[in-house]
Amino acid sequence: MSLVRWLRRFGPAAGVILLLAGCAFDGPRSTLQPAGEVAQIQLDLLIYTFWLSVGVMVLVIGALVVSLIKFRARPTDKGLPNQFHGSVAVEAIWTIIPVVIVIIIAVPTVRAIFATEAHVEPMDTDTVVNVTGYQWWWKFEYPDLGITTANELHFPLGSRLVVNLDSADVLHSFWAPRLGGKRDLIPNQANQLWLTANEPGIYLGHCAELCLGAHAYMRFRVIVDTPEDFDAWVASFQQLQAPELMAADAPSRNEVLVQDAPDTALVAQGSQLFLQKGCVGCHSIAGNIGGNPEYPDLTNFGLRTTVGAAVLENTIENLTQWIIDPQSVKPGNYMPTMWVADDPERENEGRAIAAYLLSLGVTGAPADTADTGSSNLAFGGNN
Ligand code: CUA
Repeated sequence: MSLVRWLRRFGPAAGVILLLAGCAFDGPRSTLQPAGEVAQIQLDLLIYTFWLSVGVMVLVIGALVVSLIKFRARPTDKGLPNQFHGSVAVEAIWTIIPVVIVIIIAVPTVRAIFATEAHVEPMDTDTVVNVTGYQWWWKFEYPDLGITTANELHFPLGSRLVVNLDSADVLHSFWAPRLGGKRDLIPNQANQLWLTANEPGIYLGHCAELCLGAHAYMRFRVIVDTPEDFDAWVASFQQLQAPELMAADAPSRNEVLVQDAPDTALVAQGSQLFLQKGCVGCHSIAGNIGGNPEYPDLTNFGLRTTVGAAVLENTIENLTQWIIDPQSVKPGNYMPTMWVADDPERENEGRAIAAYLLSLGVTGAPADTADTGSSNLAFGGNN
């Protein structure tokens, strides 16, 4: 077949396949851009086995091509070529070579497994986070720090993150590709994963186990802070746990606002609506009343970068849309709409609640670290 005919026949299919693959080497969730020790070990193993496979492919295809050319039928040939059955030399070669290949793949693989997969006993310098997967969001609890939050996980650069993985319902899988491979969250099974990061930044994560409904929207972020930023983040939570603040009513903490919510009256209205509309029946806010640990904790929500399990950036417009019509943002999720569709106050009230939520996380922080939430929001590496 001539090249032109070949291209005409197979060119379009090849083009479509390349388009469908749509692959990039440097995407924000690319395992080919490792940003931590575990991801690096795993990528090194992948590259090693890739080149080994290339070698095997070259040898096999080379032997095939040589045979095709050297032993092709010639016009002078008569009848069948010499037929034989069984050859100890050939059998030995194609038994021994694969065994050797398996060994030279198995040794570094087992070494990588032991380096990355073992259950670790957390040290004082580690950051321990108990992760619980829910349809379709993530609960992050810091048992040593007394912090409960959702969908955005912080740890300081230089510390090892140890995550204990559990599920409240079905199987989920914790995967922050640039930091390390995925691990499942299985009810009643104590799975664990540890990760480190090379530099501060935001690393995108995703549920990697089909968990029905809004699985595709079950995202999270691992935010690696400088130690100073992490301490400020922790302090912004721990201040809220002081007994006098726990007893204080919500509006008292909302007098200082983040820049997204400059309207004090709107925030005050939002904090009232948060109670009246029943948000408080599910969502805890430290220092406030109500809430249920089986739903996302909204303490310091103004410090979050995203809405709806990392589906949207955390702006007042996106948050308002999420509050007044969650299904339009994340189809299938379990958050109810608290307004009938033609309620004329729907948009305004949703915006007030959004303003209130965005104001959380500023008053509690010490004055010199009040800008913690926005100081390190650049993505790590390529985006
Ligand atoms: Cu959780 Cu998919």
